[in-house]
Amino acid sequence: MPTVSMTVNGKSVSGEVPANTLLVEFLRETLGLTGTHVGCDTSQCGACVVHVDGKAAKSCTRLAVQCEGAEVATIEGLANGADLHPMQEAFRENHGLQCGFCTPGMIMAAVDIANRHGGKVDEETIRHELDGNICRCTGYHNIVTAIAAGAAAMGK
Ligand code: FES
Ligand code: FES
Repeated sequence: MPTVSMTVNGKSVSGEVPANTLLVEFLRETLGLTGTHVGCDTSQCGACVVHVDGKAAKSCTRLAVQCEGAEVATIEGLANGADLHPMQEAFRENHGLQCGFCTPGMIMAAVDIANRHGGKVDEETIRHELDGNICRCTGYHNIVTAIAAGAAAMGK
């Protein structure tokens, strides 16, 4: 079995995994980082979104071995100790979740949206960008509000 090494949430990690291991499986099963969720088997739901080399990526769509040497960030790495990341705080403040299953992927996608579009990202852009993230509970209204607020807070 190949050994794969990468940096996850700032720590060097490695593991021996079958070559067909998905990044999401490596994160959840090898590293125990179960905040990244699996909500489909069709690459549609976005519950598995993480950052790979600073960009949002569906971790069910790439193999762990393809991420050899990459910098990966998951929802577990977002907070600074007891201090929530501004986007996490915005979801909490604006009730941008119900069951929470989609939330880690939504927040990782949201941080990427804010990184690319800045603090004044408009509602239409947010809704367009969320095309790859499905929420079955909230109706999206509060998620969009949360992302706008989180992006503004990140821009400060
Ligand atoms: S698990 Fe649904 S898109 Fe990755
Ligand atoms: S909060 Fe339940 S799926 Fe989004």
